[in-house]
Amino acid sequence: MPDRSFLDWPFFEPRHRALAEQLDEFARRELAGLGHGVTDDAALDAACREIVRRLGAAGHLNPCCVPEPQGRFDVRALALSREVLGRHEGLFDFCFAMQGLGTGPISLFGNAWQRHRYLPPVRRGEHIAAFALSEPQAGSDVGAIAATARRDGEHWVLEGTKTWISNGGLADHYVVFARSGEAGGAKGLSAFIVDAATPGLEIAARIPLIAPHPLATLQFRNCRVPATALIGQPGEGFKIAMATLDVFRTTVGAAALGFARRALDEAVKRAHGREVFGKPLAEHQLTQARIAEMALQVDAAALLVYRAAWVKDVQGRRVTREAAMAKLYATEAAQSVIDAAVQLFGGMGVVSGMPVESLYREIRALRIYEGTSEIQKLVIGGAVLGERA
Ligand code: CAA
Repeated sequence: MPDRSFLDWPFFEPRHRALAEQLDEFARRELAGLGHGVTDDAALDAACREIVRRLGAAGHLNPCCVPEPQGRFDVRALALSREVLGRHEGLFDFCFAMQGLGTGPISLFGNAWQRHRYLPPVRRGEHIAAFALSEPQAGSDVGAIAATARRDGEHWVLEGTKTWISNGGLADHYVVFARSGEAGGAKGLSAFIVDAATPGLEIAARIPLIAPHPLATLQFRNCRVPATALIGQPGEGFKIAMATLDVFRTTVGAAALGFARRALDEAVKRAHGREVFGKPLAEHQLTQARIAEMALQVDAAALLVYRAAWVKDVQGRRVTREAAMAKLYATEAAQSVIDAAVQLFGGMGVVSGMPVESLYREIRALRIYEGTSEIQKLVIGGAVLGERA
């Protein structure tokens, strides 16, 4: 029986407990099998559209994409949703999360017109959203963004390349960060909403992954967007990106937690069901010790994830340090828990299609995207040293 005891922790309110139960049931009933084992781009895109459509039609994108009042994300709901979906299938979590990340800057900083135009179709699962920050030479170093945005009358003209863009080629609109030049480095960036059909925006290449998700490189050439596409003020792009990541980094940790819980569930079943040297694996002390370590890592990750979510929701203050801790620990711990589960399965653990095998491929990217583990350490170290200075 999968562990549900964490739902009784004081971080949650009754609505969170209800959400976790309902979404779990929905994923089992309505999403099972969608996109599983799919590798070619067209089938993958179709599966993602269908997952988003079903999530939206059932109302499950609501707390994710349209926080009310403006900017008040329910981070505990987001995190629990990602954990529950990730426990079922990495692709379900991906589809859910990207709807939120791709509209996060609009939810947090968009004006009433932008929010009215872009958020409802995403919430209903009719439109797909994407967040375009990274570039070939600007991944960890956001202040090095080279794509440009030049003001031309009532338009902005975008030029440059964005890469590692989740939902690239599938999205209906992108939030694009570009250098508008108010100052050097991090202070000279702005954020724009770019409709996918805008002339001058091209999908330059799809990027195949070890755990297939839609990912692409985008090229902007003389791409003209109206002045109304600007989110917030010119020069606020870095702040907008970081504030969005402050919400979503905690939830990357939550997705990793969902993967880790699934790996632990699988490992426990295996430990009871598999006999070696005349008795079940579960009766060997080496297995008991490993399961204990896995359970400890899972609970420690959960505490950090829901601590960060609670601080953001309830105290409403900046959670850069807590979110970085949650992402760093939960993704690294999940990698270790999943690796241990593969080991417990022995040869079966590396057979294509086994749940622990696909978790092993799924988890790896989470230690990289939305800020690598190394960047999270810089953020935490900087915050702690700054606090003590
Ligand atoms: N909220 C608000 N303001 C913030 C902030 C935050 N979280 N973080 C920094 N700032 C402010 C700072 O206070 C500073 O302001 P002042 O100059 O007024 O003091 C300003 O922004 C610049 O901050 P830094 O000097 O710390 O900036 P930096 O250039 O050294 O960069 C960094 C810091 C933490 C390394 C940052 O670049 C970073 O987070 N890098 C990782 C990027 C990342 O996560 N990329 C993921 C891409 S998206 C993705 O992966 C999505 C996907 O496909 C799934």
